[in-house]
Amino acid sequence: MATFFTVFIVLQLLLTPPLLLLGQAFNPVRGSDETLIAIECHNAEVPSTCIQCLKSDQRSKNSDRVGIAAIMVNCLQNHAKTLATNMSELASGTADLAMKNVFEECGRGFSSAYKELSSATSSLEKRKYDEAEMLVNEALEYELKCHWKIGSYGDQIPKDVVYGMKLYEDLSEATDRIVERL
Ligand SMILES: *[C@@H]1O[C@H](CO)[C@@H](O)[C@H](O)[C@H]1NC(C)=O
Repeated sequence: MATFFTVFIVLQLLLTPPLLLLGQAFNPVRGSDETLIAIECHNAEVPSTCIQCLKSDQRSKNSDRVGIAAIMVNCLQNHAKTLATNMSELASGTADLAMKNVFEECGRGFSSAYKELSSATSSLEKRKYDEAEMLVNEALEYELKCHWKIGSYGDQIPKDVVYGMKLYEDLSEATDRIVERL
């Protein structure tokens, strides 16, 4: 039995690489980006969110690893922008002064996050990957600060905003995993 398994495993090792290469040769473009997206999102806590972000952007089809990182940062920016708008709308829609303050602060935080992420994109273009990673984490700090402050208002926060913040956290973590490996 042990011998059978050894032979089986050796055969697998011998046969698998050429088969994979053949697969790539028959379908080189599609095969490689699907693979790259899967590889880049593999270490994320929520890979499906990471994959969804990359697939929603046509550029991911022809991107290298740095390009994939830049697309993730762009997704984060879109979320930061939406959340900044949501927060200022919530601020103007409440009469509760303490709550208004928190929403306003959150709004400013997401605007700052947006700016940090613009800088992160420039850092990626300049191949300053450590700097990009630091900026993505600074942008996350603003979100976490808001999450912490907004927490006490619980069910008074619209569901789509709560969900948007959760997505932001997941995407930020996924982006960090990708950038730290550049
Ligand atoms: C948050 O912003 C998005 C995009 O502008 C909008 O579709 C959504 O309705 C907003 N949510 C709330 C609760 O204002």
